[in-house]
Amino acid sequence: MAGQEHEQWASRVGFLLAAIGSAAGLGNIWRFSYVAGENGGAPFLIIYALCILFIGLPIVIAEISIGRNARGDAVLAFRHARPDRAWYLTGGMAVIGCFFILGFYGVIAGWSLKYFVSALSGHLWITDNYSTYFSGYIAQPIEPVIWQAIMMALTVIVVAGGIQKGIEAANRFLMPVLGLILVFLAGYSLTLDGASQGLAFLFAPDWSAFTRPSVYIAAIGQAFFSLGIGMAIFLTYGGYLARGHSIPRAAAIIVAGDTLLALCAGLAIFPAVFSFGLNPAEGPELAFITLPGLFQLMPAGKWLAILFFGLLVGAALTSMFSILEVPVAYFIRRTGLSRRTVTVALGIIIFSVGVPASLGYSVLKSASIGSRNILEFYDYAISNFLLPLGGIATALFTGWGWGKAKALEESDFHDSTIGKIWLFCLRFIGPIFIALAFFSVSFF
Ligand code: TRP
Repeated sequence: MAGQEHEQWASRVGFLLAAIGSAAGLGNIWRFSYVAGENGGAPFLIIYALCILFIGLPIVIAEISIGRNARGDAVLAFRHARPDRAWYLTGGMAVIGCFFILGFYGVIAGWSLKYFVSALSGHLWITDNYSTYFSGYIAQPIEPVIWQAIMMALTVIVVAGGIQKGIEAANRFLMPVLGLILVFLAGYSLTLDGASQGLAFLFAPDWSAFTRPSVYIAAIGQAFFSLGIGMAIFLTYGGYLARGHSIPRAAAIIVAGDTLLALCAGLAIFPAVFSFGLNPAEGPELAFITLPGLFQLMPAGKWLAILFFGLLVGAALTSMFSILEVPVAYFIRRTGLSRRTVTVALGIIIFSVGVPASLGYSVLKSASIGSRNILEFYDYAISNFLLPLGGIATALFTGWGWGKAKALEESDFHDSTIGKIWLFCLRFIGPIFIALAFFSVSFF
């Protein structure tokens, strides 16, 4: 490490907040609610919970263990664990993958910031047709790219500050604020007339969903995206973790926190949407078209819009720090350059990777891959290929490649029964289910 001390979290709570901040992002706020609703509500939630428990949680534990053991970045950690094998390619794929994930994530984060600022200034209320407002906005070539650049710049400033003074400090401030906003919005939404319809939409059992393979695929995909696993993020954050804290316990808190925040977001959004007789639409549409229309109808809507889009911006930022930190950690070690130089350089490169996704709605409108525009293609390739591939590789490495004794030791499970269950999940359950989902997505 070029003679440098590897950085470390100031406290365990700081690590947990940063890890939950990474997991909780745009994926929890609109993607979770919509995917859950689309896939039958309660049965989806059950399958999702099983995916989180038997696939997601074991992989989070594996990532933290590999990282803490090596006290190093994604590539170094796999090399450290098995110098004689090519497992480090898993880390290499994660480093490259993060360029694309953050590139595309930054575009949507930029949309969120634009809406937040417009809610503050009042510009958001100049129309009552948010469908044209939104499509008109993203069809401009310049403005969305500027907001995207601002979100990337904020991310760079925080990550350049380092682990304790940058990432940990920002999460310590942002996460409690975001939690409070979310609980407030959920509480408010639940008091509205007709809120129960929203609850029914989310939780009403539709048992036929159990027989649809697409529900399983949706649940695995959502579990991966929402936790943010497979891209060495918890591995990199775990590299800054001191020994002496139980990894399984930390992972359980992180996973529970992420799931709870997703549920809260669903409780904030759907009761309100149904209460005003609106339709729960898909993906970006929900946050950027349906919700502004909804806020306009609500008495305190102007304030709620500021809170909601502020929440979206903050949640996106805390995820962006973690995605940037993966390549930053790697390139600091490889180049020996300062954190600041590396972070700025990578920020600019990753921003550029994201720009075509933004321009896919304007000057690059004619560029499409299959039926998808550039942003949709990024999203599709990442969620359905990159993350599952990274997840399988991490599970297989820990289950088979690392050595049973070593894996149990480094994860703090030692010789416990639950440790054996953990390994079984990594060896069989995770890889088999991910592979099934992977193939069904590729073929249908
Ligand atoms: N989990 C975050 C969300 O829900 C996004 C995220 C953070 C992510 N790190 C990741 C997604 C790594 C994929 C891979 O929005």
